[in-house]
Amino acid sequence: MKILLTGGAGFIGSHTAVALIENGFEPIIVDDFRNSEPFVIKNIEKIVGKKITSYSSDIGNKEEVKNILQKENPIGVIHFAADKAVNESVVNPMKYYQNNVLNLINFLEVIDIAKINSFVFSSSCTVYGVPDKIPVKETASIKPAFSPYGYTKQVGERILNDFFKSLPSSSLTLLRYFNPIGAHPSGLIGELPIGVPSNLVPYITQTAIGKRKKLTVFGKDYDTKDGTCIRDYIHVVDLANAHVASLKKGLESKDSIKVFNVGTGKGASVLDVITAFEKVSKHDLNYGFGPRRAGDVPKIYSDNTLIKHELDWDAKFSLEDCLEHSWNWEKNLIKFKYKSAKKQD
Ligand code: NAD
Ligand code: WQD
Repeated sequence: MKILLTGGAGFIGSHTAVALIENGFEPIIVDDFRNSEPFVIKNIEKIVGKKITSYSSDIGNKEEVKNILQKENPIGVIHFAADKAVNESVVNPMKYYQNNVLNLINFLEVIDIAKINSFVFSSSCTVYGVPDKIPVKETASIKPAFSPYGYTKQVGERILNDFFKSLPSSSLTLLRYFNPIGAHPSGLIGELPIGVPSNLVPYITQTAIGKRKKLTVFGKDYDTKDGTCIRDYIHVVDLANAHVASLKKGLESKDSIKVFNVGTGKGASVLDVITAFEKVSKHDLNYGFGPRRAGDVPKIYSDNTLIKHELDWDAKFSLEDCLEHSWNWEKNLIKFKYKSAKKQD
């Protein structure tokens, strides 16, 4: 059973390709490698021990995508392809509306939805803004987003909801990821941040390996147990498995629209992450405190009851597993030549 993965060479897409194969599906990757590297495909092949079908195409290119769909005839789609840097979206919002919204529409215009029985979309906990209640449930209200990136996820959800409501023969699953971290336990695939990372975990591993001098913890006076922000860090392999579970459920039910949080249901502070990293890496991390970062939500973690109940999914990896795998990946990266490595500052 063929499943089209847009953005399948990226961080979450590559791990999902592996999980799909482990579950008997055949992933077809469409990625123009704007934020990933062709070596990722080779490394997926090393993990699973077989060839992967992949196309280097922009999903906004209707002609190319139409040809791929006609040739491959997938029965499901997982749509990862998007730009994801929150700060960049503030500086260059049109890039984000173009790729995350317009290219989504272009893509929907060419897929023959009658043949796509299950469609899974990468959404984000960013759609909740500052939640009124924690842990946050899927029924929480959608709040004003902090960035154009956040709006593209809200609008993407809206477009897909309306589109699938008009097509009662296909199912849609919107997955709202919390904070994906970690890497494949093999050390062969992981996150490839371009330039200076804005996310916590790649900043930690790059500091420990010597690419960065010091980690700045943004704020120490939040109303939390240790004064630093709380997040729900989810291992990327657990997240990948949530895609497989969603896809399968969608194939069974055919005409449903579902929204799931994908998180561990547990909050960890920035200092918890640093402590766990120091333990597994046996490194003293060079860090200090700085002012709060604009736009940071003080505290958010998921209520994951719904996905546990409806998809029989649960997070298996601990925070320490996540950091151990991220650290292995950082140490391995030196072996792979990739373009983003040249843009470290
Ligand atoms: P990523 O950048 O590693 O992967 C995205 C992939 O899509 C890249 O390989 C990129 O080359 C490709 N791509 C982008 N635009 C494309 C286009 N027009 N045509 C073809 N390929 C294109 O990002 P990721 O972390 O794997 O994120 C995947 C999805 O999950 C994104 O939609 C992102 O917004 C969403 N998400 C990510 C996070 C996170 O923290 N990583 C959290 C919540 C949601
Ligand atoms: C985590 C915590 C920082 C860097 C972002 C997006 C969100 C989603 C996931 C896509 C915060 C602190 C960070 C550093 C620090 N992505 N931090 N020093 O902001 O929760 O979420 O990624 O949908 O939309 O906004 O993740 O990893 O940037 O930050 O102290 O150098 O680490 O303040 O408390 P965030 P993050």
